[in-house]
Amino acid sequence: SSTTILSVKNTDTYSYKGSLIKGVKQTLQQLEGSALGPIIRVKKGDRVRIRFENEISEKSIIHWHGLHVSHENDGHPEHVIDKGETYIYEFEVMNRAGTYWFHPHPHGHTGEQVYKGLAGLFIVTDEEEKALNLPTGDYDIPVVIQDRTFDESNQLLYLPNGRMDQMQGFLGNRILINGKVDNTLSLNKDGKYRLRLLNGSNSRAYKLAWNTKEPITVFGVDGGLLESPKKLPYLLLGPAQRVDVWLDLSKKSENEELKLIHLPIPLDNMMSGGMMGGGMMGNKSDNSLPYNSQFDIININVGASRKNDAQLPERLSVSQALDPADAENRNSPRTFNFAMEGMMKWTINGRTYNGMEVTEDEIVKLNTTEVWRINNGGNISTKNQKDGRGMMGNNRGMMGNGSGMGNMMQMPHPVHIHQLQFNIINRNHENVDQNLWNAVKDGFIDEGRQDSVYLLPGMYMDLVMRFEDFKGLFLYHCHNLEHEDMGMMRNFKIE
Ligand code: C2O
Ligand code: CU
Ligand code: CU
Repeated sequence: SSTTILSVKNTDTYSYKGSLIKGVKQTLQQLEGSALGPIIRVKKGDRVRIRFENEISEKSIIHWHGLHVSHENDGHPEHVIDKGETYIYEFEVMNRAGTYWFHPHPHGHTGEQVYKGLAGLFIVTDEEEKALNLPTGDYDIPVVIQDRTFDESNQLLYLPNGRMDQMQGFLGNRILINGKVDNTLSLNKDGKYRLRLLNGSNSRAYKLAWNTKEPITVFGVDGGLLESPKKLPYLLLGPAQRVDVWLDLSKKSENEELKLIHLPIPLDNMMSGGMMGGGMMGNKSDNSLPYNSQFDIININVGASRKNDAQLPERLSVSQALDPADAENRNSPRTFNFAMEGMMKWTINGRTYNGMEVTEDEIVKLNTTEVWRINNGGNISTKNQKDGRGMMGNNRGMMGNGSGMGNMMQMPHPVHIHQLQFNIINRNHENVDQNLWNAVKDGFIDEGRQDSVYLLPGMYMDLVMRFEDFKGLFLYHCHNLEHEDMGMMRNFKIE
């Protein structure tokens, strides 16, 4: 067993300082000049011991996003530690090879702490992946995408418009890559690259495309490799989601302009209740990045030729699909409605986070498979409802009684479930605005194991998941970090 030490220091921005105890198997890579935490690299089956030292004057705790670990190792908000205290994590890495990550999870302060720099990658490798000859070393590139806003003296600004920013979720006016303002990646012509994209933004989603209009080749998602690579015209990446993108620079010429860009998504008006540019939104600075505009994400600088012998096989892995037929509740999915309650409260089935509280419809059994219906104002049929309670909030929160800004605000909710990797069975868009749906419909990857999904207003999704190995309390929540901090988070209990 080996120990990794992560400590957080209190400065203008926060940062995880990583160090390793002698004799470790894992490697720790501190990204140079970056405001992000280190990259922890481990192998499946490794036992890791991580000592978290809190040196900031706020409570914090680290959550390992996507990892299959016990309650004690999951970074539950109830496990926060004060300045000067330490928390020891000790677990076996049970996940498949893939790109996982870590970030703080203190209730009410996750958004701000992540924003100030507390996040890092947790990269797992395994034998299956190793046999594939995928790009490694300098050809395996982390790309953490985050949006930030700086003031005139280059200090980070968080929620400059107060309550409105909180309701919408923070949206910054410039893009940072790997915690740096410089978004240029210098790569080699003729190189074959694995780009590990993480959308580490607090609330923003991206519609990613190559400026050359070539399709994007995706070969991995949150929970690791897909069965085979998939080509998409563009890719929708919601908060907390990860994808592996293949990039072959052999047909490029030196100094050719290559960019990963964001393409417009018609979301701004919907989110501000049609008030974009006036009234409530009046404070928005004019250099902000509207969803419905095009901007650069990464500039790739194609340098001199340097070949590597990596390749992308057509067959990457065996199917990781759970069979919905194994779910006892196949025909009456457990339903969770993500909605606004009353004027200004984001809720799940009408409830908000309340410590260790867990209610009857949030209790599941160990060693069972279930279907969960995650609903953001979608057109779910009433006969499939397991529990009518809280359901009344379904469409009402979004389009109901029409008074006040709250009821006009239609928000996407990026929903995340701790502790497991699910499969997507179904994505229903009947109630999604047609114009919005047309703008994004070819950008979803619904294959493979995932832990975070992006739900447009009017969408619901059916997910199949299995509860294994660990009993206890785990979280499910909106990964719009401002929504999460406002209480759009609950426990589920495996017993
Ligand atoms: Cu990345 Cu509970 O979250
Ligand atoms: Cu998580
Ligand atoms: Cu949300």
